[in-house]
Amino acid sequence: LERTFIAVKPDGVQRGLISEIISRFERKGYKLVGIKVVVPSKEFAGKHYHALKDKPFFNGLSEFLSSGPVVAMVWEGEGVITYGRKLIGATDPQKSEPGTIRGDLAVVVGRNIIHGSDGPETAKDEINLWFKPEELVSFTSNAEKWIYGVN
Ligand code: GTP
Ligand code: MG
Repeated sequence: LERTFIAVKPDGVQRGLISEIISRFERKGYKLVGIKVVVPSKEFAGKHYHALKDKPFFNGLSEFLSSGPVVAMVWEGEGVITYGRKLIGATDPQKSEPGTIRGDLAVVVGRNIIHGSDGPETAKDEINLWFKPEELVSFTSNAEKWIYGVN
């Protein structure tokens, strides 16, 4: 099954939105296979956002991601990379649809509370950056046959 990297950013943690965000992924039918609370260094944050290093907001973004606790997670499920991004909503909360995490819970692009990998390659890279293999679990949940309709 596909895996993606999801993080509650410092603003989401400070605003008490960890459980709200987890529950949206969990209720959908996705499976949590790794989770930890970390305060990333600015250097680490810069690595995470290396693709944006030429953007004018890169420094502020790296500073912000390293400004406090982040909840780093790996979620597993069919299509979780693409559909996880749909649950999250557009980058700019002014443009995110109602019903999405950013649409319902955030207001400005610089404080959009959650990160999600944008494709299979970045998902793999980000999972490897944030987690050691032994920090992730593989298991079959009891609900899976009801979620996927297979034995
Ligand atoms: P992530 O899931 O956090 O990677 O967001 P995204 O994939 O929807 O957007 P992108 O990777 O392009 O940008 C990463 C993050 O940079 C965004 O989530 C925003 O927090 C921030 N960001 C993007 N564009 C802007 C911008 O124009 N101004 C500011 N201040 N921040 C931005
Ligand atoms: Mg991105």
